[in-house]
Amino acid sequence: MDCFLLKGNVLYSSSMEKIEVCPNSFLVCEDGICRGAFAELPDRYKAFPVYDYGDKLIIPGLTDLHIHAPQFAFRGMDMDLELMEWLQCCAFPEEIKYADISYAQKAYSIFAQTLRESATTRAVIFATVHQKATELLMELLENTGLITYVGKVCMDQNAPEGLREKSAEASAFDTIEWLNHVSGKYQRTRPILTPRFIPACSGKLLEELGKIRRAYDLPVQSHLSENPEEIELVQSLFPESLFYGDCYDHYNLFGSKPGTCFGGQTVMAHCVYSSGAEMELMKRNDVMAAHCPASNMNLSSGIAPVRKYLDMGIRVGLGSDVAGGQTESIFRAMTDAIQVSKMYWRLVDRNTKPLTFEEAFYMATAGGGQFFGRVGKFEEGYEFDALVLNDEKLPHPQELSPRQRLERFAYLGGDMTEIEAKYVAGREIRLH
Ligand code: GUN
Ligand code: FE
Repeated sequence: MDCFLLKGNVLYSSSMEKIEVCPNSFLVCEDGICRGAFAELPDRYKAFPVYDYGDKLIIPGLTDLHIHAPQFAFRGMDMDLELMEWLQCCAFPEEIKYADISYAQKAYSIFAQTLRESATTRAVIFATVHQKATELLMELLENTGLITYVGKVCMDQNAPEGLREKSAEASAFDTIEWLNHVSGKYQRTRPILTPRFIPACSGKLLEELGKIRRAYDLPVQSHLSENPEEIELVQSLFPESLFYGDCYDHYNLFGSKPGTCFGGQTVMAHCVYSSGAEMELMKRNDVMAAHCPASNMNLSSGIAPVRKYLDMGIRVGLGSDVAGGQTESIFRAMTDAIQVSKMYWRLVDRNTKPLTFEEAFYMATAGGGQFFGRVGKFEEGYEFDALVLNDEKLPHPQELSPRQRLERFAYLGGDMTEIEAKYVAGREIRLH
C-alpha cells in the first residue's frame, strides 16, 4: 500500500454553502485516494510518512473546465473586440500556426509548464483541428502529471482556409484517426469530442460527431449561448432548432437523455444567454456549465446568471477560457465569478443573489471536479488532489482564521502568494 499524510490547516467544501475547516490536521492519502482529515493521527496510519506543512493551508486541487491551449500565447493581448470579430482577427490566425509542429512544440511547452505550476490540477482543454499538434499537446500534458481531457477541434465552416477542415467527412475521418492513435496511450490524458461551436459545424459534421460519440463512448465539450450575434447566427444556420442547445441535442451532443446514458459527460462553456427552455434541457440531460467570467468581461459577452443554474440543480464549474480570459488562474476565476454576480444583482436582477465565497470555492473544487468523477473534496473515497498554499508574505497585524486566509489568498493571489506543493491523484507534481 502506498500511503502518506499531509499536515496543515485543511479546508474543503462539504456542500455548496459550507467550507469545512480542520486546523492542524492530518490528511490521509492511500493509493491515490483520500481517507479523510483527522485532528489526531489515527493509530493505523502511524507507520506512514507525514509531510508537515506547518501553518500552511491545504485545499483540494482546482479544476479548469474550459481552456484553449493554442490561445495561451496571445493571452492578455487583443482584448478590445467582441467574440465573432475576435475569433476572425485574433484566435483563428493564431490557431492556424499549429499546422507547424515546431511552432506547436514551442507554444504548447510553455502552456504545459505554466499549467503544471498553476493551481490547476485538472483541466478540460481545447486544442486545434491539427491531429499531430493535438497529440503533441497530449504528450506534454501527460508529462506534467496533471489529469486532463484534450479535444482535437472539429470545424468545417465559417473559418479561414488553413483552419477549416475540408469537409464533414474529412473532419470525422481525422477525429477517428486521432482517437485510434491516442486511445489507451496515456494514463492521465484523455480524449474529448470537441465540435468548436455550432456556427463552425455543418449539420453533416454534427451528425458524424454524434455517431462517433456513440461508437467511442466519449465526453463532449463545446460553447453555448455566449454572445448575441453568435446566437443569431445559430438561429439562421439552423432555423428549425428551438434554441442553441437544442441544436447540439438534435445530434446527440448535449448530455444524455434520461434513460439513454451513452457517452461520457458534456460540458458547455459560457451559457450567458440560455433561455429557460435551454436551462431545462441542460438539467434534464445533465449538461454541466463552465462559467468563464473573465472571458465574458473581456469579450463584452455579458454576465452568466450562475445563481439560477445552481438553484435549478445544474452542475457548474469554473473555466479560465484563456485567451478570452487573460489568465489560467482559477483563483482569479473564483473572485471574478463573485464580482460579476454582484453586478448582475445590482444592475440586472435584484432577485438573483450574488455568489458567496463558499459557492465560488465549491465551483472551483467540488463543482468542476465532478466532470472527473469523485474529485474536489477531502472526503473518504475522493481522488487525492491537493494544493498547499503559502501566504507567509502576506503578514497581518491580527491572527487570521484559515477561512479568512483562504479568501485573502484567492483575492490577492499573485506575487505575494505561492503554491508550495501540489498533488494529483496522490502523486506529487514537480513545481519548479
Ligand atoms: N466560441 C467558439 N470558439 C471560441 C473560442 O475560441 N473562444 C470563445 N470564448 N468562444 C468561442
Ligand atoms: Fe472558449
